[in-house]
Amino acid sequence: MSIETLSDQELAVSTQDSFIEQANIKDQAFFQKASQNRLEFWEDRANELSWQTQWDQVLNWQRPYAQWFINGKLNACENCVDIHLKDKKNKIAIRWEGEDGSISEITYQELYDRVNQLAFHLKSTFNVKKGDRVTIYMPMILDLAIAVLACARIGAIHSVIFGGFSSQSISDRIVDSESSLVITADGGYRRGATLPLHQTVHEALKSVQHHCKTLVFRHLNNDISSSWNDDRDTDYEPLRSQNWEPVNPEPMDSEDILFILYTSGTTGKPKGIIHTTGGYMTHAKYSTRAVFDLKDNDIYWCTADVGWITGHTYLIYGPLANGATILMYEGAPDFPDKGRFWKIIQDHKVTILYTAPTAIRAFMKWGVDYPKGYDLSTLRLLGTVGEPINPEAWDWYFKHIGGENCPIVDTWWQTETGGIMICNLPSLAPSKPGRAGHALPGIQADILSPEGQNVETGGGLLSLTEPWPSMLRGIWGDPKRFEDVYWSRFDTYFAGDGATIDNEGYIKVLGRVDDVLNVAGHRIGTMEVESAIVDFEGVAEAAVVGIHDDIKGQAIQAFVILKEEMKETETLESDIKAFVANSIGPIARPKHIVFTPELPKTRSGKIMRRILKQLAHHEPIGDTTTLANPEIVTQIQSKISNTSK
Ligand code: WTA
Repeated sequence: MSIETLSDQELAVSTQDSFIEQANIKDQAFFQKASQNRLEFWEDRANELSWQTQWDQVLNWQRPYAQWFINGKLNACENCVDIHLKDKKNKIAIRWEGEDGSISEITYQELYDRVNQLAFHLKSTFNVKKGDRVTIYMPMILDLAIAVLACARIGAIHSVIFGGFSSQSISDRIVDSESSLVITADGGYRRGATLPLHQTVHEALKSVQHHCKTLVFRHLNNDISSSWNDDRDTDYEPLRSQNWEPVNPEPMDSEDILFILYTSGTTGKPKGIIHTTGGYMTHAKYSTRAVFDLKDNDIYWCTADVGWITGHTYLIYGPLANGATILMYEGAPDFPDKGRFWKIIQDHKVTILYTAPTAIRAFMKWGVDYPKGYDLSTLRLLGTVGEPINPEAWDWYFKHIGGENCPIVDTWWQTETGGIMICNLPSLAPSKPGRAGHALPGIQADILSPEGQNVETGGGLLSLTEPWPSMLRGIWGDPKRFEDVYWSRFDTYFAGDGATIDNEGYIKVLGRVDDVLNVAGHRIGTMEVESAIVDFEGVAEAAVVGIHDDIKGQAIQAFVILKEEMKETETLESDIKAFVANSIGPIARPKHIVFTPELPKTRSGKIMRRILKQLAHHEPIGDTTTLANPEIVTQIQSKISNTSK
């Protein structure tokens, strides 16, 4: 029988006794305490951090505005670095592997030194002060983690941008956050090629009006003189040999902003999600230890880029706050061959692996011979994040990577939630492939009907119904959008995902119910892609939908109306695709483009995306009576079937 057709009970996979016996959390009392006295539970978690000043109130909740650990003071960098110097200064904090196989590692003492050195220069050379925004656009190198921590140390608000984003996307984010400094590098490596990061920043800054300096790290050591500007750019290399002094960790109020991270929404440009210090760090530290069962001797590898929230919470802040040894890899999973991940696990004796379903589906396609060729026996726990994992991929991961010996944690959360919200703790209950499971202790997640009623079993909309410490505090510069997007639908936090809940309380997240696409685990707004397409000369209008993709989960299909004078040439489709990749980033490149004279619209002029989706999937089209132009449906249909022949 295929795993896809098993019932819920048949699906359950018990956790190995050997895992349960040694687990960090093996006691239901932990859950009970959280549900009996939530605030006391969170206070206990906050006490796992080091505070400079204790808080005097746990929570002030003025829906939708939360303040946690009021008047408490702490520093995130101090909690990731300084607190380990007593017992772990010679422990490896980060072990880094480059795509060409080079390896470097730093101990907690060395991390302390390098973070302080950079923090010193940020203050003395650039005059960066508490509350200033610093954009970070870097490859996955040690200096990226160091830059993040140095900002946190001096109280600067970091805004990290994924290295795959285009100059336009960078400039939008620099302008919106009014960053006074961009920390970047000469370039990075990806699949044997190099990424011209400094050049991209140079392009981005052309459309930034305010004064913005850059600090450039040397990684490729290539010639960047053509994009260099002496008034604007500072090379970090000479600063490395200058004198520096340790910088005191800035006392941050629990509610002072730690970072902004831009993510896509349904409308407009990406929004800057705000996270504050005390609540975010409390959840990052606790959830890393609870979900990944992190121990002192683990080698922990999260494959996410620091440019995404997963990289923030589970590559940097969470594991380092726990004093772990983390692995960081700069490069592609299939370079120089498709066994690269498994070689990394073997070489570094990785014990915990956290990756995305899209990667697992690609590995499945490449075949079991790749993982079979390596010793993966050090692994003891596997994790997934970013999109629903189909049971077949779960099963493959379990058998071929975990050797049927490692529990899998399927973690549901969002940029907005700051950390993992729903995830079965395998030491407390069996796992069910494809179901993220129960909300973590301290978190309350419910499935609501469209009217806001609690659904006991069945389907509905996912909502987080109690405030939690790492919840977003707002959208940078746009409080109204914050209130509208998340708090206008229900009284509680609306996540934007559809989900089901079974009679044992396991939640299965189905995916977005709004116009946010999830391509290979990356969030992209339909509007963002549409406006990029419309910027292409000769395009009059565009509509974009997500279509099923075996590996990426979703891919982008665009329907495009050309201006009268524009001819549909042979290269037009690939030109538009390249244009979109160029203006947002390669992750936004449409897979298919269909040219059409009109889009199906309601009489009030609204594009009927449901119909476009059905057309793209070659599905029968339902009711078209509400359309102003029903005849366009058959026209598009015949066009699609002609092109797919
Ligand atoms: C989706 C990533 C199903 C979901 C941490 C959510 C998931 C969006 C899962 C957030 C999961 C994330 N199962 N869907 N385990 N994890 N998602 O902000 O649609 O990049 O709303 O945060 O990813 O994406 P974001």
